[in-house]
Amino acid sequence: MDLLIENAEQIVTCHTRGRKFKAGKHQSEIGLLKKSSILVENGKISWVGKKLPRGILRKNLLKIDARGKCVLPGFIDSHTHSVFAGDRADEYSMRIKGSTYEEIAASGGGIRSTVKAVRKASKKELKDLAGRRILTSMCFGVTTIEAKSGYGLSAAAEIKMLEVISELRKELPVDIYATFLGAHAFPDEKTREDYIDEIMFRMIPAITEKKLAVFIDAFCEKNYFSVNETKGIFLQGVKYGLTPKLHTNQFYSIGGIKAAIECGAISVDHLEVMKPSDVSALKDSGTIACLLPAVSYFLDIPYAPARKLIESKIPVALATDFNPGSAMSENIQLTMSLAVQLLKMNIEETFNAVTINAAAALGVSDRIGSIETGKQGDLLIFDTPAYSDILYHFGVNQLWKVIKRGRVIC
Ligand code: NIG
Ligand code: FE
Repeated sequence: MDLLIENAEQIVTCHTRGRKFKAGKHQSEIGLLKKSSILVENGKISWVGKKLPRGILRKNLLKIDARGKCVLPGFIDSHTHSVFAGDRADEYSMRIKGSTYEEIAASGGGIRSTVKAVRKASKKELKDLAGRRILTSMCFGVTTIEAKSGYGLSAAAEIKMLEVISELRKELPVDIYATFLGAHAFPDEKTREDYIDEIMFRMIPAITEKKLAVFIDAFCEKNYFSVNETKGIFLQGVKYGLTPKLHTNQFYSIGGIKAAIECGAISVDHLEVMKPSDVSALKDSGTIACLLPAVSYFLDIPYAPARKLIESKIPVALATDFNPGSAMSENIQLTMSLAVQLLKMNIEETFNAVTINAAAALGVSDRIGSIETGKQGDLLIFDTPAYSDILYHFGVNQLWKVIKRGRVIC
């Protein structure tokens, strides 16, 4: 059935006016409409405005009265590690007492401990866990999500994770994009060279043959993958049709950003530690800077220089980075609150960062991320008349309805 959302107090359209993303001062433009309605036909937005088109009410429509409420595009979480087994609550408690994330990783915990749990888990267990988590993300307004592998670190276990994502895509009402993150850490049982060979010559060909991922990612950082190793892996991925995204500049600036851009990365993610040369490399590259403030909050590390990036006209997206070690929260609204309070992004920049710019970080901003005719009917209705209340009244989920392709899903 087609859908009519009537008389919303505010509609935050995040309009693109034909642009792929919003940068600089445009990142503050949200295209606000007042007392307006939205028509969704065959899953796509067919009309937005004040005065209903003639004859529309004769159609068989599901009507939602949105008086006193505000409507936004569905949120897009463009960076998550939602597929994992086990937990790292013990590490959390050690960190609260003063150990650092890097110390815990160096003593055999961290990513490796989740790798053990994922290898042990059956596909069904992993799928049940990840499915529930993605539904939790959805309850906070996420209608499109990215999910990475990276806790398998062997061909079989990486493929198991990606197959989970592929099955969930068919079963859950949200869109899910898969990223191959074999280069997340080094497994204990292999030499560095052997593992990189396995990624390049075994995993990438097998994963692309089975069409299990669209993106390729790596953790380019001191003690993880070097700039040259990252480049080699990315170029091989590109050869097999994958698009790079990169975990970089979380703890050190070692040149990951420049390398990612040279390999055609669609986004560079984290960016807590930035040198002026990193900012200049990003400027005019068209690569999205995806910031993950929940990691800074959870690990107590510096926050990314969001203002500097926006002032340099770099398009900024925000994502949760939901994972058991550095950001154990599916709540994208929490990420948005942190962005406003701690990254000093304004409310409008923040909404564009989880809608249109997040869509651009997944290469799909022509289809989702704004309320414009022709776009997918992915919409959120909040039970508040003003969009600013969503962040002003913090820590409370005021979401009333989640709509995916014109269907109410939550
Ligand atoms: O994005 N930084 C690398 N990877 C993840 C954390 C993974 C983990 O600790 O399990 C991140 O923060
Ligand atoms: Fe991550």
